[in-house]
Amino acid sequence: MWGGRFSAEPAEIMQAINVSIGVDRRLWAQDLAGSRAHCRMLAAQGIVSAADAAAILGGLDAIEAEMRDGSFPFRDRFEDIHMNVEARLAELIGEPSGRLHTARSRNDQVAVDFRLWVRGACDRTVAQLEGLQRALLARAEQHAGDLMPGFTHLQTAQPVTLGHHLMAYVEMFGRDAGRFADARARMNESPLGAAALAGSPFPIDRHMTAAELGFDRPMANSLDAVSDRDFALESLAAASICAGHLSRLAEEIVVWMTPMFGFASLPDDLTTGSSIMPQKRNPDAAELVRAKAGRIMGSLVALSTVMKGLPLAYSKDMQEDKPPVFEAFDALELALGAMTAMVAALRPDTARMAAAAGAGFSTATDLADWLVRELNLPFRQAHHVTGAAVKRAEALGVDLAQLPLEELQALHSGVTEAVYKVLTPEASVASRTSFGGTAPEQVRARIADWKGRLAEG
Ligand code: ARG
Repeated sequence: MWGGRFSAEPAEIMQAINVSIGVDRRLWAQDLAGSRAHCRMLAAQGIVSAADAAAILGGLDAIEAEMRDGSFPFRDRFEDIHMNVEARLAELIGEPSGRLHTARSRNDQVAVDFRLWVRGACDRTVAQLEGLQRALLARAEQHAGDLMPGFTHLQTAQPVTLGHHLMAYVEMFGRDAGRFADARARMNESPLGAAALAGSPFPIDRHMTAAELGFDRPMANSLDAVSDRDFALESLAAASICAGHLSRLAEEIVVWMTPMFGFASLPDDLTTGSSIMPQKRNPDAAELVRAKAGRIMGSLVALSTVMKGLPLAYSKDMQEDKPPVFEAFDALELALGAMTAMVAALRPDTARMAAAAGAGFSTATDLADWLVRELNLPFRQAHHVTGAAVKRAEALGVDLAQLPLEELQALHSGVTEAVYKVLTPEASVASRTSFGGTAPEQVRARIADWKGRLAEG
């Protein structure tokens, strides 16, 4: 492609470090889209003749057919997807192929291809996130009133419902989808026409190509257009945060599935056995979701580090932008798919969860609140009295609800029989009717809100 100035072929090691077709072949559809838009614009502007444009477009169609049927010859010696397509176009249509690269550089070409790919990946991720939210909503609705212990420090804290717990993730994944949508909106400007770095002397119409490729407008600075990969970084940041949420839910599934917790199980087809220990049922999918998060977060660090010291405009370092992005979105796609399947198939042991919800003095806060409400104690004093009650119950080997009234009255004379009404996990959960609280009516209201939001799209 640049033979004019060169008299020697690249050394083997030069080619080995330079070649990227093995990775960027995934951009073929975006590369063809960018070339078609560019070609039509060149014709519309009278920069290439209608006949040449028709030949080029016909050749691009033939290349698309080869891509689809797997016969396209990807060749290392043409380095990357852009030059593989151009070389093939020359073989197919001859002379007019050489006119396609007028007013274009691989620098704006790769920037547009990659933006289109990342934009599509963000859209697919949002759709997958909505699928996961729907799966969570269905399970949350089913378990809106089913008790489970809520934890802080992984110590029993206060009873909640399983529906409430699952809805926490619906909120998180909703914000994740919002982050991908925000990133998409910001990235949706076209770099095409920036050419190598300085723009073009040809009378190109960047607004036309931007519109054809579904961008809101052309990017306003040609140096910026070919130099920045912040769109990729932003989507990797969104992917990292999302992966973090997936990883936390995966971790909870792992914990719930331990025999010691015994809160939930997964069916055979979403677990694996052990080659040596016949009793095992391992939550490998959840563990791998947790691990994928590590790799996705690593991708963000990898690309940030590649980019951070580069002077304007394009540097070949930027060719290393694609592996972390492809890897991250591949991993995220798998993780979202696996998590959606696990959420849909999870079999909570509601009896065991409910029993655990009432254990561990989980209603101690309810006792303290009762002392405040009914006896007008300052909360700090109520906390102290309740702490003493827990200590006494522990010594007697009973739960708070089983502590005899005399024991409670010994700690505060004002305590009456009525206190027992607030000491059950059912009552505790039902009492938490503040907006966003765990009371089943609140949980059902939030489920209804989300169903409406997802239906609106
Ligand atoms: N394969 C290159 C990349 O992915 C395309 C751009 C090459 N531009 C250049 N001036 N060498 O970044």
